[in-house]
Amino acid sequence: MQPASPSSDSAGAPRITLAHLQAMVGRQQPIAMLTCYDHPTAQALVGAGLHILLVGDSAATTVLGENSTTAATMDFMLLITRSVRRGAPNLFVMADMPFASYPDVPTAAANALRFVQIAGADAVKLECDGRHVEIVRALSASGIVVCAHLGLLPQRAVQHGGYRAKGRTSAEADRIVQDATALAAAGAELILLEAVPDEVSRRVVAAVSCPVLGCGAGPGCHGHVVVLHDILGFNDHPPRFVDRLADGPAFIHNAAKEYVIAIQTRQYPAARHGYPTK
Ligand code: KIV
Repeated sequence: MQPASPSSDSAGAPRITLAHLQAMVGRQQPIAMLTCYDHPTAQALVGAGLHILLVGDSAATTVLGENSTTAATMDFMLLITRSVRRGAPNLFVMADMPFASYPDVPTAAANALRFVQIAGADAVKLECDGRHVEIVRALSASGIVVCAHLGLLPQRAVQHGGYRAKGRTSAEADRIVQDATALAAAGAELILLEAVPDEVSRRVVAAVSCPVLGCGAGPGCHGHVVVLHDILGFNDHPPRFVDRLADGPAFIHNAAKEYVIAIQTRQYPAARHGYPTK
């Protein structure tokens, strides 16, 4: 595959870089981030004021209907990241490294490089704990922007006994703060905290100097991310930190219904839809 070549941004906004995100933190301007998994959606999101699109491995559950994000593969994540990059050339695109794609430094480095070189990602995100310090150090040393994802780690739901909020005990909270500090010191330039109490987020914000993004991690974070399909109403049981902002299923259903009615009433296809003979 050739590297993704971004088309022009119809909104004409300047490209958002890591420096831009760091400056936003300095100005205390909140960073807005959503998941995105495909080209037309990326195009629709351009101009909405978002700063980061996360090509999350949540695509496996959200758009493929799998039971776990562990179903996402490298090839799948590369293709969808590339499609998002092309749809939103000027937004900061963060790609999720999928399950088992970073078991050791050489494998992590090779896979992270594919996200940057082939898919055009600005950063890669790894579900981390203190054991990933050397991997983060190696990626960062090779020039790859790393986001360390801490707290609830969906790829480890089986190991961790399900999807539950993290950092609610003082031992867990201390561990998250220590891990965030170690990963930031190793070169992580972004931290993402999922499903942790606001107090824990504030401790992380105080402990590191990089932008801290929260997914259900309280107002203390520098920025916030949720799954797009959750705000669009495609999840009947969204997490408590998500507000449903649209009725996406009804929108699609009604368009399909209108199409069926047009066929049944013979209004479609009409003369204007045809190819006249020459
Ligand atoms: O894959 C994803 O969508 C994520 C967010 C929930 C943070 O990792």
